[in-house]
Amino acid sequence: MTGDRQIGDRRIGDRAAFPPSDPLVAPRAGLSVADAALARDLEAAAHRAWPPLRLHDHHGWTLRASAGASRRGNSVWAHGEVPDVPAALAAVAAFYAAEGLPPTFQLTPVSQPAGLVPALDAAGYDDSGPTDVCAAPLGGVTGAAGGGAADPPPIGAATETAPGDGWLRVAEQVLATFGAQRAGTLAVLDAVRLPAVYVTVAVDGVPAAVGRGVLDGRWLGIYSMATLPAARGQGAARRVLAALGQWAAARGATHAYLQVEEVSTVARRLYAELGFRPVYRYSYRRAPAAPVPGPGRRAARPAAEDTP
Ligand SMILES: CC(C)(COP(=O)(O)OP(=O)(O)OC[C@H]1O[C@@H](n2cnc3c(N)ncnc32)[C@H](O)[C@@H]1OP(=O)(O)O)[C@@H](O)C(=O)NCCC(=O)NCCS
Repeated sequence: MTGDRQIGDRRIGDRAAFPPSDPLVAPRAGLSVADAALARDLEAAAHRAWPPLRLHDHHGWTLRASAGASRRGNSVWAHGEVPDVPAALAAVAAFYAAEGLPPTFQLTPVSQPAGLVPALDAAGYDDSGPTDVCAAPLGGVTGAAGGGAADPPPIGAATETAPGDGWLRVAEQVLATFGAQRAGTLAVLDAVRLPAVYVTVAVDGVPAAVGRGVLDGRWLGIYSMATLPAARGQGAARRVLAALGQWAAARGATHAYLQVEEVSTVARRLYAELGFRPVYRYSYRRAPAAPVPGPGRRAARPAAEDTP
């Protein structure tokens, strides 16, 4: 499972698929054995940091549903073998039909079994576009606001253990998951069983930038990074990241991971500067909408989420 894999018309790890100026370009070759193991670990960490509200295990696949709140939370995590792919696809179709959602897979280079991609291609599943999972030593994050990891500057960030009103006001203006699906998203956050922190940075006394951190062993998972459009380019996100890093370092974390879509060019530049490297990329594959008898009857599609 470590070679290049085709997702739609794009090869994982194919340099030609990225804009040439993208600072988070992954190497052309497929995943090393070590990165494949890391990919499996980080997918499991992401599952813990964004737990589905309902799940069903079908052999090695975990079928997830979360009240329409997110793509990860409403997709199949294909982390193990299934004995019969057509039978497993039928089980997926039945599960998501009962949920009123389109069958969706999250496909990574370590998804199983090997025959899954051609099976989804043949069934006409679409492709959401790539997201990279990136990892970095924590020091670059801790020092994101300037200064060094050992001697970080005061950053004027507020931290909470649950999302407060100011945090939510920023998140819902920038992140579709919070804006369109707030109740379902809050239920997901409430289900997280790991230590979490919500950071808010104010500009001119008003909450303007936020981020969420989840501590998982040696890892800080970074989620929900958002700055109000009017406050961008003033270092607010750097201060959020520094506060997340300092919170995690004080609790023993040594590394950070995050997910960033290929289209998020500003975020990609920032993360590259802090030392993040892309470990692997994934995308969501969604079943074609089934023909329905009457007009206007389509299955609900989840909004874009902040943890892509
Ligand atoms: C990504 C995002 C959080 C950055 O927030 P921010 O507060 O503007 O970031 P900062 O001011 O700390 O700037 C970080 C870097 O990005 C640069 N930057 C910010 N806005 C920019 C823009 N519009 N064009 C080019 N560069 C920009 C800054 O110059 C800075 O680089 P530098 O410190 O090397 O000069 C913000 O753009 C955002 O909310 N985007 C939409 C949501 C999103 O993509 N979230 C990330 C999901 S992974």
